Amino acid sequence: MPNPKSSHVEVDVEKLPFQEAYKLIIGSIVPRPIAWVSTVNKSGVSNLAPFSFFNGVCSNPPSVLFCPVNTPEGREKDTLVNIRDNRQFVVNLVSRGLAEKMNQTSANYPFGISEFKEAGLTEGKCKKVKPPRVLEAPISMECELIEIVKVGPGGPGSGAVVIGKILHMHFDPAVYKDGKILIEAFDPIARLAGSAYCPVRDIFTLDRPKL
Ligand SMILES: Cc1cc2nc3c(=O)[nH]c(=O)nc-3n(C[C@H](O)[C@H](O)[C@H](O)COP(=O)(O)O)c2cc1C
Repeated sequence: MPNPKSSHVEVDVEKLPFQEAYKLIIGSIVPRPIAWVSTVNKSGVSNLAPFSFFNGVCSNPPSVLFCPVNTPEGREKDTLVNIRDNRQFVVNLVSRGLAEKMNQTSANYPFGISEFKEAGLTEGKCKKVKPPRVLEAPISMECELIEIVKVGPGGPGSGAVVIGKILHMHFDPAVYKDGKILIEAFDPIARLAGSAYCPVRDIFTLDRPKL
């Protein structure tokens, strides 16, 4: 454990190039859950990509957020373009057995090429939204856009927070029991820095303090 009294390193993040700041963010905020987001473009072609700047927001309404960041060339991610066009997306969750396919869908395929097909994944029909869910995923959340909050001046490294309301969920029966999720069956993975990932192991519990 770091000793708070020993000398320490400081970095003036305001003076850092965004690529260097990125390394500090992804190494410090760990482990990050992964939203595997499916969308459709205006012509109805599906798109699928992972996003680890991802979390829940609140439960009234049930909501999630994730953050598509512009490419080093300043281009918006296809996922963001599609959501702005039709206000719908699906957040699929990733178990260990799907890690390699999830990684494959992060490749920079041209706009209009479906990552479902490229990674050998099956498009499952959704109940309330147009984008398909990943049929192989243990959990999928059908979402409707609440808001896109732009962060930064635009261009390389700038991003957006996409906030969505969860309308409907799908579960592999193995991971769902009596309204709760069975984490061992779910076997989720999380992203660390670079190309590192971790499973969820060594779980410990802490009761909340009672005052
Ligand atoms: C595990 C993982 C997590 C990622 N997280 C993010 C993220 O949070 N934000 C982002 O903009 N890109 C992230 N990426 C990169 C995108 O998946 C990648 O740029 C993808 O090509 C975007 O696809 P799209 O243009 O079809 O939306 C991540 C990649 C991987 C493998």
